[in-house]
Amino acid sequence: MLLLCAIALLCSMPVSLSAPLACEDLLRPLGQLDPRHLEGRWAMVAGSLSHPPFMERLRSRESATASFSSNTSETSISFRRSMRLDDECHYASYNISVEGSSFTFDNRSINTTFTHTSCRDCILLSFDVESGKRQHFYLFSRRRQLEQEEIEEFTAQVECLKMPPPAVMDPTKELCPDETASDPAARNEEKTKGQRS
Ligand SMILES: *[C@@H]1O[C@H](CO)[C@@H](O)[C@H](O)[C@H]1NC(C)=O
Ligand SMILES: *[C@@H]1O[C@H](CO)[C@@H](O)[C@H](O)[C@H]1NC(C)=O
Ligand SMILES: *[C@@H]1O[C@H](CO)[C@@H](O)[C@H](O)[C@H]1NC(C)=O
Ligand SMILES: *[C@@H]1O[C@H](CO)[C@@H](O)[C@H](O)[C@H]1NC(C)=O
Repeated sequence: MLLLCAIALLCSMPVSLSAPLACEDLLRPLGQLDPRHLEGRWAMVAGSLSHPPFMERLRSRESATASFSSNTSETSISFRRSMRLDDECHYASYNISVEGSSFTFDNRSINTTFTHTSCRDCILLSFDVESGKRQHFYLFSRRRQLEQEEIEEFTAQVECLKMPPPAVMDPTKELCPDETASDPAARNEEKTKGQRS
């Protein structure tokens, strides 16, 4: 098992060859994922990405969520995202199928891998966009705010990836209301006006 993880790491991340062992350990992909653990809504607590110009956009996000639900089979899962920007909610939803600890979406242009985190009620998603052109690294939790040590672990993981210091989301900012899952208009890139408060 360990050997497989090590091989997967070496194959997928040649840059990590020169990195200290600690980074390999910090960035190991999750083994088998339990789809029941994924079910429901997660709030983004922190994130970073490899393309610095996009960091500004990430930092100006008020809030973001990821939701998973599966009703048909273990492998076919609905993946919905919301993002609040300038007090406006943006939604996107996809049908995904999780293979091992990865799934792809957006016409397979984004390959997402669940990465290990010691935070118990978190999921850590690493988005490989357009075959390595960019990497997005997002930590989601059932909580809106994490403990200092949990943010420190994430910061260390981000440093291993040589990405800019993470944006930590403001827990007081409202999340977007849950989209009605059956709404056919709720397709990709659908925009709805957020409630002003
Ligand atoms: C899941 O499927 C069952 C039966 O197939 C159905 O009764 C239930 O309403 C579905 N739940 C959701 C959330 O779609
Ligand atoms: C996902 O699959 C369901 C059922 O097959 C379908 O009704 C829905 O439109 C699909 N959603 C997307 C975003 O492709
Ligand atoms: C999906 O990707 C394939 C190959 O990468 C491309 O030919 C096709 O046009 C894409 N479809 C959409 C809807 O973008
Ligand atoms: C996605 O990335 C994982 C981890 O790097 C890899 O094992 C998997 O083959 C990739 N999937 C696709 C469809 O490229």
